[in-house]
Amino acid sequence: MASVTYDHATRVYPGTERPAVDQLNLQVEDGEFLVLVGPSGCGKSTSLRMLAGLEDVNGGHIYIGDRDVTDVQPKDRDIAMVFQNYALYPHMSVADNMGFALKIAGTPKAEIRQRVEEAAKILDLTEYLDRKPKALSGGQRQRVAMGRAIVRQPQVFLMDEPLSNLDAKLRVQTRTQIASLQRRLGVTTVYVTHDQTEALTMGDRIAVLKDGLLQQVGTPREMYDTPANTFVAGFIGSPAMNIGTFEVKDGKAVVGHAAVPLERDVIGQLTDADGGKVVVGFRPESLDIAHDGAQDAFQVKVNLVEELGSDAFVYGELQSSDADLHSGSSDQVIVRIDPREVPMKGDTIHVTIKQGAEHVFSPATGARLSS
Ligand SMILES: Nc1ncnc2c1ncn2[C@@H]1O[C@H](COP(=O)(O)OP(=O)(O)OP(=O)(O)O)[C@@H](O)[C@H]1O
Ligand SMILES: [Mg+2]
Repeated sequence: MASVTYDHATRVYPGTERPAVDQLNLQVEDGEFLVLVGPSGCGKSTSLRMLAGLEDVNGGHIYIGDRDVTDVQPKDRDIAMVFQNYALYPHMSVADNMGFALKIAGTPKAEIRQRVEEAAKILDLTEYLDRKPKALSGGQRQRVAMGRAIVRQPQVFLMDEPLSNLDAKLRVQTRTQIASLQRRLGVTTVYVTHDQTEALTMGDRIAVLKDGLLQQVGTPREMYDTPANTFVAGFIGSPAMNIGTFEVKDGKAVVGHAAVPLERDVIGQLTDADGGKVVVGFRPESLDIAHDGAQDAFQVKVNLVEELGSDAFVYGELQSSDADLHSGSSDQVIVRIDPREVPMKGDTIHVTIKQGAEHVFSPATGARLSS
């Protein structure tokens, strides 16, 4: 097993000007499960393919362990990749599909058989080894694709959206299986997804990319609790964080009659470019219901209540007309409420931000200002 290091790794596709991946610096520890996440086109697959040797590196280096593999052939990198379209050979049995790469590599038959049987046991595929892929369910086929990677006993697993062909329920099951399997095998894994829930639930650490640029790396908890900028703040978490631009007045971020006290340290970091404003983010669960007329409360008009059994969310509008507030792609405020005390559509509720639960960012740079 081995660590993986991207050292200013850059990929510029021929005929394009902007790098698809721009000076990526990232260290994946030996045995770690690292998730690369970000919106479509941000450079996730390109980063993975650079590590696999399927894409040229136009600047910087990539290391597996201490070895500089930047110019090493894919087959000599000791990695195994699982793709979204993990086409299995339809005319071959499950066992032959799983052992194919070993056969090509000239591994003795008995050893292939042994490794395939071991992998089949881990993946719960033993009873299907003689079947053809078409006689398997989607989830079982996906496990065969995993098996192909496992039998090779590589130093690093690379996975590019391996679950996106599965339906929602199977995806949730399989992601748990992959995460626990990876922990059992202890093989360093780089896993690509655009789904932030998948990232939060599977990764030891998460790396968020946007426009080819690494935004932040950290544990799921760190990404959730202290997003480094407004992009990560809005991307990680579901429902998304509420984010708005507020005026700074007398040490507070102000919208209409409502206000959020700001730490002195935060105000000290503002520059002229911020124009006397701050961006404040607060998660749906960071709001408390307050009574009518409470100090610093926001008035929210309820548009919709989403009841999920254990939780309920209000989607509503801030009553102050000068507010610019949104949550993810919606321009509504989202408030998590007690599912046993649900307001009616059209009601107005009063909410305050739990003390210290706000996230403050610079309007000019988007960077985090609060600790
Ligand atoms: N062969 C290519 N030639 C030119 N540009 C490319 C090529 N492959 C990818 N790109 C561009 O590079 C950028 C990154 O692409 P990449 O496939 O890495 O994105 P991604 O994050 O994996 O997205 P998705 O979630 O949609 O799979 C995109 O802007 C894409 O259009
Ligand atoms: Mg991709």
